[in-house]
Amino acid sequence: MGQLYLLLFAVICIFATSGLAQGVTVTSYSTVRVTQAKTVSTTTSFLTSNTIVYRTATGTYTEKVTVKPTTVDAAFQKEVLEVHNSLRAIHQATSLAWAPELASKAQSFANDYICNGQLEHSTLRYGENLALGFNTSAAVLAWYNEVKLYDFNNPTFAADTGHFTQLVWKNSSSLGCAFVRCAQYYGQYTVCEYDPPGNVIGQFEQNVLPQQ
Ligand SMILES: *[C@@H]1O[C@H](CO)[C@@H](O)[C@H](O)[C@H]1NC(C)=O
Ligand SMILES: *[C@@H]1O[C@H](CO)[C@@H](O)[C@H](O)[C@H]1NC(C)=O
Repeated sequence: MGQLYLLLFAVICIFATSGLAQGVTVTSYSTVRVTQAKTVSTTTSFLTSNTIVYRTATGTYTEKVTVKPTTVDAAFQKEVLEVHNSLRAIHQATSLAWAPELASKAQSFANDYICNGQLEHSTLRYGENLALGFNTSAAVLAWYNEVKLYDFNNPTFAADTGHFTQLVWKNSSSLGCAFVRCAQYYGQYTVCEYDPPGNVIGQFEQNVLPQQ
């Protein structure tokens, strides 16, 4: 059976006027898109495209979670944080600090994942990147890889670069991530929460800086 790779980010669009005054109401909403999906090898009932994943034949294919950490996995924490921070440094963004409360919220959310190939964001009000089918470092690198689609001369939000822009978002300072493992087909499910959230409309130029 082939393996599936999926990425998903929560688009947090905060319409802020510049110099947002305290007490001004900020309207925010989140939507979710599958932005990249590919099969490594084709399977009988699974078709993917760049934006949509669909299953043609029978019902939903669901796996059991095989690993559900009950505490933060120290090796996971170190790896996910280090990969983030080395990529952020390339884009003149300071290192994120690990936030246990974000990690624990991410873990609670991940623990509810039912390993069915569908990705949906949480209702948490952070920036959020999701991945399915990638190991820890590969998930972060897949998010980062969207850099090649980002136009630094036209710095704004785009659905195909939202993971990247959140990852290197300068004003984000805290990170908390978690994972569970589904079985063979779906592999690892990874959730990262970022605070303050990135992808704020109107603030891309100051927050997503070119490579140095
Ligand atoms: C993670 O996945 C990447 C890409 O598939 C692979 O090159 C790497 O060896 C994997 N790392 C681990 C620790 O399995
Ligand atoms: C940066 O984050 C802080 C919260 O820590 C927020 O008050 C501020 O508006 C943000 N600034 C920008 C430019 O996004």
